[in-house]
Amino acid sequence: MRILGIETSCDETSAAVVENGRTVLSCVIASSGKDFEKTGGVIPEDAARKQLESILPVIQKSLRDASMTPRELDAIAVTFGPGLLGSLLVGTTTARTLSSVWNIPLIPVHHTLGHLSSTWLCDTEKDAEPSFPILTLSVSGGHSDLWYRRTHTEGDLLGSTRDDAAGEAFDKGAVMLGLPYPGGPALASLAQSGDASAYPFPLPLAKEKTCDFSFSGLKTSLKYLIRDLGSEMENPETKASVAASYEHAICNHLCTSIEYALELKPDAKELHIVGGVSANEHLRQTATSVAKKHNVEIRWPSTLRYCTDNGAMIASAGYFLHREKPETISTSFVTRATAKMHE
Ligand code: KG4
Ligand code: ZN
Repeated sequence: MRILGIETSCDETSAAVVENGRTVLSCVIASSGKDFEKTGGVIPEDAARKQLESILPVIQKSLRDASMTPRELDAIAVTFGPGLLGSLLVGTTTARTLSSVWNIPLIPVHHTLGHLSSTWLCDTEKDAEPSFPILTLSVSGGHSDLWYRRTHTEGDLLGSTRDDAAGEAFDKGAVMLGLPYPGGPALASLAQSGDASAYPFPLPLAKEKTCDFSFSGLKTSLKYLIRDLGSEMENPETKASVAASYEHAICNHLCTSIEYALELKPDAKELHIVGGVSANEHLRQTATSVAKKHNVEIRWPSTLRYCTDNGAMIASAGYFLHREKPETISTSFVTRATAKMHE
């Protein structure tokens, strides 16, 4: 089954063709992220306008790259939410129109289900298929969730953020450090030359046994640390160590919750880390130690472009949704800025 996946929930416009939920035949990603370097965040109206400019060329290129005609597609999968409404509507309106013109089924996909499927994607060589039950940490600019999954479509949400998402904590921290948007990669790159033990941050929710996350305290600690260091922050070594300590605090908090979740669910066979923040090298290292200690296999998306938003993960999720729960797929879906995964 070959599915065209369309993802337009924020500032990326992406289309991809994926075979049987795993093999990526093409994946095209256009991003308007650079336009928002100066504003330090996405301006929704501008992002939607860029989506409109990019959507058709991106879809055309994804078909060309896969050497396919629309007639060879079996379905279209599209992100229906959550995200920026204007951006989402560009994707869902285009997908509805193409599904009607090409006369093929349309599968609406929740954005997070897309991220959860991203560890199934491979370009040419097939890694062994992941085995359930799986503990998945999904961390992006919009959400931070810890899932225990029995199948692609069934599972329990063990914990989620009580305030900011992990990606937001990176992005807001980066703004305080005077780094450009999107802040996660910029902060991670600055942190590389710093000493992560230089400025210890308090562990959030330390008094609770919980799989939840909270990043607002870390943000406040960073604000006061920068204030207290004053002109010392002009020293590049100090600035790098502040970034490294802050990055370490975020990753340590995420991994403390993972560890607790692994204690709660000892039958989990694999630990997956997905979403934009799964590109973070320090997080990968810290989580690898946790996985070793608990004797579970660890995976993240096979390439960096499947960590951040992309159409391939939506095509993959559409395939598994179609395979496991075809009765739940409906074209009368509503495009939604906010949407829970199991509603
Ligand atoms: O999944 P994604 O592309 O979009 C959302 O669904 O939000 O995630 C984007 C987020 C941003 O907050 C970005 O700063 C963060 O992922 N990110 C990173 C890294 N690469 C992207 N955070 C930390 N380290 C990275 N290397
Ligand atoms: Zn995302």
